[in-house]
Amino acid sequence: MRLTVRNTRESDIQGIIDLCLAVYPDTPPWGEAQIRSHLAVFPEGQFVALDEDSGEVVAMAASLIVWWDDYEADMNWRDFTEHGMFTNHDPDKGRTLYGAEVMVHPGRQGCGIGKALYQARRELVERLGLLRIRAGARLRGYHAHAATLTPEQYTRQVVAGLVPDPTLSFQLKQGFIVLKVVHEYLRHDPESLGYAALIEWINPAVAGAEDYAARDRFALR
Ligand SMILES: CC(C)(COP(=O)(O)OP(=O)(O)OC[C@H]1O[C@@H](n2cnc3c(N)ncnc32)[C@H](O)[C@@H]1OP(=O)(O)O)[C@@H](O)C(=O)NCCC(=O)NCCS
Repeated sequence: MRLTVRNTRESDIQGIIDLCLAVYPDTPPWGEAQIRSHLAVFPEGQFVALDEDSGEVVAMAASLIVWWDDYEADMNWRDFTEHGMFTNHDPDKGRTLYGAEVMVHPGRQGCGIGKALYQARRELVERLGLLRIRAGARLRGYHAHAATLTPEQYTRQVVAGLVPDPTLSFQLKQGFIVLKVVHEYLRHDPESLGYAALIEWINPAVAGAEDYAARDRFALR
């Protein structure tokens, strides 16, 4: 497949909604008003991947910039995204790109498309001189281990490479580390049971020793 990764346009909105329904058939998709709001507040932070031959939207990634001091690390997805509208986007003070969504069509997963979207995100962070990317990685495989492992034990096993998780194992391959496990990050998620790993990638072009030290102090071990 020939693939293009570019910033999202209004003409992609229906394609994104169709993509959401293919990835999460039992969950309400991103709404048109939400996607329009993302494009209004931070067009550079919204990406799609297109199959060049069919024109189909096969993947998307949505982000905003936050000033981390406005938040607590264990806040949930709604807090970080202002209920999915991104109206809390703060490019004046913010140094953190917050990854609010990434998804690849089920028929196209495992072909390097998620990796290409993360490459686009890292390039954006470098271009804007931001300090880092943070996101909540839903622990999608946790439900299968909930009877025997706490979410923290499960996450440590995924980080150690002993157990694969469909989302976190992918994020770790993109150079992220886990800072902590957040409870009640996403409500009504039967796979993660609401648990997510707060993950971070630091931009080496702007980070100082104190940024790495802060990360190492918080990193889940
Ligand atoms: C998670 C997701 C975005 C990954 O995208 P993808 O296009 O399938 O991933 P890629 O093909 O780019 O994989 C990149 C790397 O991650 C690895 N990887 C991807 N999925 C993995 C998994 N389930 N387990 C282990 N490793 C995985 C790949 O092997 C690849 O490694 P490599 O660079 O050494 O070759 C995609 O599977 C998806 O959309 N899932 C459903 C929605 C979702 O959970 N989104 C995250 C919400 S927090």
